[in-house]
Amino acid sequence: MKVIGISASPRQDGNSDELLNRALEGAASAGAEVKKIILNELKFGPCQECGGCDRTGFCVIHDGLEPVYAQLDDADAIVIASPVFFASVSAQLKMMIDRFQCRWVAKYILGKGGRSGRRRKGALLLASGSYKKEFFENSRAVVKAFFATLDAEYSGELFCGGLEKKGDAAKYKEYPNRAYEIGRELVING
Ligand SMILES: Cc1cc2nc3c(=O)[nH]c(=O)nc-3n(C[C@H](O)[C@H](O)[C@H](O)COP(=O)(O)O)c2cc1C
Repeated sequence: MKVIGISASPRQDGNSDELLNRALEGAASAGAEVKKIILNELKFGPCQECGGCDRTGFCVIHDGLEPVYAQLDDADAIVIASPVFFASVSAQLKMMIDRFQCRWVAKYILGKGGRSGRRRKGALLLASGSYKKEFFENSRAVVKAFFATLDAEYSGELFCGGLEKKGDAAKYKEYPNRAYEIGRELVING
């Protein structure tokens, strides 16, 4: 089983990254092959709404996001870890998600989506300064729409408030421990 982790924060070794690392450790402990994609290290731009994917379902922009399409197509589970920025997900994550408009076109317009009966799962980990429920809910709605496009069943979430400074997530034992369990459960229940 292949599990892909998407690190959506510009701050490496920050709070969401810590949660993601624990989740990937949990998945690996259950026997999964894990890989982490750090969005902030990829050179890519936003969707240009050019319609270039309308007839094929493939994006015509050739940049640093190109390998990610194949990596996510191949994944049996996807774990997204994002900070809450201005009541939603990070710009890096939203930019990636918008670039999957080509997959939305493939699935919903061209009828070319689907994974030939292969089920897969998705989980969302969020790190936030505040505990505001609406901010987590906004982020969840964005990621749920993305997972639906990729035929990934929304199967786990961890919303962690009270995290401001780098290193805060590790101080709350229950956050990293729960992230580890979510990673394990994705594989065990997969
Ligand atoms: C640009 C920016 C926007 C932020 N917006 C919010 C916000 O709307 N609500 C909130 O509770 N925290 C907000 N924060 C705080 C982060 O969510 C918090 O520091 C989080 O732990 C960062 O996770 P990271 O270490 O994975 O990047 C913001 C931080 C930054 C830098």
